[in-house]
Amino acid sequence: MQTTRQDIENTLREIVDRMPEGTLYEAAKYALLSGGKRLRPLLFCAVLESYRIDPKPYLEIASSVEMIHNYSLIHDDLPAMDDDDLRRGRPTVHRQFDEATAILTGDALLTDAFKVLASQTHIKPVRLSRLIDILATHSGSHGIVHGQSLDLAKDGQPPSIERLRTIHIHKTARLLQAPLMMAATLVNDKDIKTWQSVGESLGLAFQIQDDLLEITGAEETTGKSMSDERNKKTTYATLLGIKKSKALIDEEFAQVDRLLEGLAIDKAPFDSLLKKIKNRHY
Ligand code: IPE
Ligand code: IPE
Ligand code: MG
Ligand code: MG
Repeated sequence: MQTTRQDIENTLREIVDRMPEGTLYEAAKYALLSGGKRLRPLLFCAVLESYRIDPKPYLEIASSVEMIHNYSLIHDDLPAMDDDDLRRGRPTVHRQFDEATAILTGDALLTDAFKVLASQTHIKPVRLSRLIDILATHSGSHGIVHGQSLDLAKDGQPPSIERLRTIHIHKTARLLQAPLMMAATLVNDKDIKTWQSVGESLGLAFQIQDDLLEITGAEETTGKSMSDERNKKTTYATLLGIKKSKALIDEEFAQVDRLLEGLAIDKAPFDSLLKKIKNRHY
């Protein structure tokens, strides 16, 4: 895994270095090369490795998903959204630069992600258009943006587990499903649906973990300012309490294991990444 992670870092640097010099480039570099866990590209690589395919020729595809993720974080931290000052242990982009730069940096990463994807001419056009479709569907009004909109909505709807589940599935699970499904598109079309379900359970578990870390973690460990309480966010932790939330996380991970049992793959690469996610503290 270590090589793959370094490979992802190198690819992201190469991509960002194509931007014209200036404030936008500096801010994109600051945001993108700031030590995230790189979970989404690692998931993409782990699926390929599970089918014994070398991820190296596909690292730009993996990176396009990380670009979308980073854009979503920059915008998520803005004063109009979660209004956070700290991300990955450093000032958020609008704090380090300014709000306009943060908005534009998000815009650039979002748009450039699709440019990176569209320029993968070594992929057959039919497959490539499917990759673009998956990433767009999971990012836009059917994906993250829908989830973020529901998350911020002040529509007077009473908080409920069903509503929270819908929010988590869209704002978080959709972008974990995308790299799994994109990798499956490259190696085994027939397994896409299973990977889609894996991503949904993994995404739910991941976001409930995130909500718990806001309560049980420390800013020094998560590297993020804890804004849920200030923003009066309804989370699994506030609705169900810590114990029940932890049980739900375990249930979702168990569902992932069951789904993986149905695939004819080498489970080791994916399992080792899953283990890291299960034990995460940030
Ligand atoms: C944070 O995602 C936002 C959520 C969807 C919970 P990550 O925890 O993957 O963030 P980084 O990329 O490692 O900073
Ligand atoms: C992040 O959700 C989801 C996206 C950025 C799409 P949160 O707002 O709960 O995540 P953190 O805690 O800021 O990382
Ligand atoms: Mg948010
Ligand atoms: Mg946030």
